[in-house]
Amino acid sequence: MAKKVGILTGGGDCPGLNAVIRAAVYSGVIEHDLEFVGIKYGWRGLLERNTVPLTLEDVRKILPEGGTILRTSRTNPIKKAEDIDRALSGFKELGLDYLIAIGGEDTLGAAYRLWRGDKNFKVVGVPKTIDNDLSGTDVTFGFDTAINIAMKGIDRLHTTARSHNRVMVVELMGRHAGWIALEAGLTGSADIILLPEVPFDIENDLCGPLRKMKERGREYAIVVVSEGAKLDVERDSDGSYFLQEIDLDEFGHVRLGGIGKILADEIEDRVDWETRHVVFGHLQRGGSPTAFDRFLSTRYGVAAADAVAEGLSGVMISLRGTEVKPIEMTDEIKEIKTVPENFRRYARLFTARNE
Ligand code: F6P
Repeated sequence: MAKKVGILTGGGDCPGLNAVIRAAVYSGVIEHDLEFVGIKYGWRGLLERNTVPLTLEDVRKILPEGGTILRTSRTNPIKKAEDIDRALSGFKELGLDYLIAIGGEDTLGAAYRLWRGDKNFKVVGVPKTIDNDLSGTDVTFGFDTAINIAMKGIDRLHTTARSHNRVMVVELMGRHAGWIALEAGLTGSADIILLPEVPFDIENDLCGPLRKMKERGREYAIVVVSEGAKLDVERDSDGSYFLQEIDLDEFGHVRLGGIGKILADEIEDRVDWETRHVVFGHLQRGGSPTAFDRFLSTRYGVAAADAVAEGLSGVMISLRGTEVKPIEMTDEIKEIKTVPENFRRYARLFTARNE
């Protein structure tokens, strides 16, 4: 009898989710004789037994589509003991042999915890997030699309900033990891890049370098700031994150945002240079994946179906170098991969602090 495999997508949506779903179903049905069912709205769908059919016909032509045909939620199935029971019994009631969980550190962390508590809950994880902050894989799918969107947006800001002799402050996503700000900022030729990994001082790291640029006759400047960037507590009085809302989501994450406006106001006050800010926000997550993400997602989906066919469980698909392969999930899955020093170097080398 064909193995029955549930697929769910959890957490923030991300370009390439549909490509993973399509690839897993193609490989599973055509190469491994697997049968699939879609679980709607992430873990919430498993708790509520909310499913849709997932045949080859259902996944045809979804490769370039953004978002997720299965929809998503930030429901945490391991927050309460009763939800753990509901998730495990849902798996049985739906007649599943396997679950492919596509998500970031929260979704995969929950999958790992459920599997560790009950080895009959067979699970294969696929790492997703535009933030690229998952340990265990070199790259998550969705990141390449996000940095391309952000880079193209920054390119456009150069012409506006130059025409008006302004500073433009661009706030980018990424939570507590600065990958998006670093790579979009560098490829978009930003003059200043502020990352969560390097607490900054408003005078020394932002306004001072901008003042110098202005004095030397530079007509305009582009500042890229990661939404999770924070002030240097050693030198500034307030070392907290800039919070849009103090609310926490089900996984305990704060909602970040708002730092771009605060910095733009500071620049106008301290440097006396007309400044505007723009928050790229969810634009970075929407729409069609790049060719790189379509191919990576396809490889991830095929590898997930292979892992199920091989009978592996408690594994996550990862990219190591050029190889896509399953690795064991461990507690480290919850560890965030931040930008290391050898990458931060680029943010210093090519920006105004070095002028
Ligand atoms: O993790 C992806 C991400 O886009 C982060 O960069 C951002 O902080 C967060 O999700 C926003 O979440 P939401 O869509 O719930 O506002």
